[in-house]
Amino acid sequence: MTIRPLSILPAPVLRKLAEPVITVDDDIRQLMNDMLETMRHEQGLGLAAPQIGVSLRVIVMDCSDEDDPEPMIWKMANPEIIAASDDTARMEEGCLSIPGYRGEVTRPAAVEVKYLDEHGKQQQMQADGLLAACVQHEIDHLNGKLFIDYLSRIKRDMIIRKMTKDARIDRDG
Ligand code: NI
Repeated sequence: MTIRPLSILPAPVLRKLAEPVITVDDDIRQLMNDMLETMRHEQGLGLAAPQIGVSLRVIVMDCSDEDDPEPMIWKMANPEIIAASDDTARMEEGCLSIPGYRGEVTRPAAVEVKYLDEHGKQQQMQADGLLAACVQHEIDHLNGKLFIDYLSRIKRDMIIRKMTKDARIDRDG
């Protein structure tokens, strides 16, 4: 497993529609494992492939709880929300691609997701609570959508402006 460099806002790959995975092969499994390694290194709960510069529909999540011995690790190709609850939940979110910023996002409180697992097998997952927010956040990444898009326009534009300025400083020294 390899830790890969993160794509940070305003990297254009974060705004692209990611391509579906055709076959879950060794390359995709390698990608999933690298993503898990990168996510853990950065202490995130979830990561989408565009966040390491790969425009493919792959996400990983680790919502393991210290109090719960059962590991809660997911590796998903082509995840798709097939049902969402009418009731919503508001949660504070952050993103490894937008370091230093957080914001309150309202999403369906529970979702059902279908996906291909690391063996290419069709699976379904029901999620609520933190996991529901996490999987929706990661699937958004595959559609070029970021949590800041749910914030007020003023707040979103302020974050984009600051991050763009920081990127310029990093580049130009
Ligand atoms: Ni994110």
